[in-house]
Amino acid sequence: MKNLLVFFVVVLLGITSCKKDDETIQAVVVSDYDKADAIRGGILYDKFWATEANYTGADAATISHLNRKADFYRCKQCHAWDLMGNQGSYNSRKPSTSRPNIAGSLIGSRTKTAQQLFDAMKVVGTTRRTIADSIGVTTYDPATNATVGDKMPDYSKLLTDAQIWDIVKFLKEGALDVTLLYDATYTGTYPNGKATYSNIGKDGDATAGKTFYTANCASCHGTDGKFIADLDATAGMTAGKFVRTKPNEAQHKVKFGQLGTIMKAFSSMTPTNVKNLYKALADTVAFPN
Ligand code: HEC
Ligand code: HEC
Repeated sequence: MKNLLVFFVVVLLGITSCKKDDETIQAVVVSDYDKADAIRGGILYDKFWATEANYTGADAATISHLNRKADFYRCKQCHAWDLMGNQGSYNSRKPSTSRPNIAGSLIGSRTKTAQQLFDAMKVVGTTRRTIADSIGVTTYDPATNATVGDKMPDYSKLLTDAQIWDIVKFLKEGALDVTLLYDATYTGTYPNGKATYSNIGKDGDATAGKTFYTANCASCHGTDGKFIADLDATAGMTAGKFVRTKPNEAQHKVKFGQLGTIMKAFSSMTPTNVKNLYKALADTVAFPN
């Protein structure tokens, strides 16, 4: 009888402690993700050491290296604004001594779990490039010496867990699904591919988009999108022309801001807002080149 009682107590303890462990693990994961901020994540995805990201994670020598070799560290360089790597808009973005090849594998944010995405940045395997490998970045030449520079950096040394969760939240919830914003055809093979865009704004509401533009963009870009001329240091690049020629990039900028300028992130921007904006800006009469 006494033995039976001990047995029950042990089993009971086992059950409670098991349950407790599960709950603890889940609670940690859920709250880290819950605490994360998708807008901050989108900014980090663009350039994690930008002023807007309040980055404090590295010493002066590392920051100087990051500034000199920015494209070897910005997520967007290897995975593209549309998250499609070399299979989307960046299918023709060639490497040079100052920027690596575009990653071939899709970032997988729509199929991977939050934990899998976190692990891809946090867990260091042999395929990650460490800061000590940065010599391979300094001597990068796509023709002869691309192995090290093309590797994904070891972000466990560059980002805090909280920042990685911010990026995960961006990938899961913040990043816009570009297939809902425009049609695109990708032909050829990287780096000799070609992207063609059409049906900008898809089934969006142009009138609502124009109203949204007037309320939120016109003060800087003018009623017809021409007030800040030569956007992105490109002659004749109006807001309308930018959206029509680079819809892959504009969708990120209108929501997460143009880093280093007065155009800040627009945290309440919804996918519908962007779609409507696109529909309005597709109109070459209202928003001329
Ligand atoms: C220098 C290029 C480069 C940069 C910069 C880079 N990556 Fe990667 N990334 C890769 C390559 C190549 C792969 C595929 C092979 C691998 O997993 O190492 C990859 C894989 C991934 C994967 C896993 C995809 C899968 O399907 O398993 C995720 C998630 C990811 N990257 C996210 C990011 C994020 C977020 C950043 C910025 C913080 C970033 N990457 C920066 C090159 C890069
Ligand atoms: C507070 C002023 C301001 C507001 C508001 C603003 N922008 Fe901008 N925008 C800028 C500045 C400044 C730039 C960078 C100009 C340059 O290239 O030097 C910019 C850049 C852009 C670019 C080009 C991005 C790139 O990669 O070069 C686009 C497209 C754009 N804005 C569209 C919009 C739209 C659409 C809205 C409204 C949702 C908006 N902007 C709101 C000031 C603003």
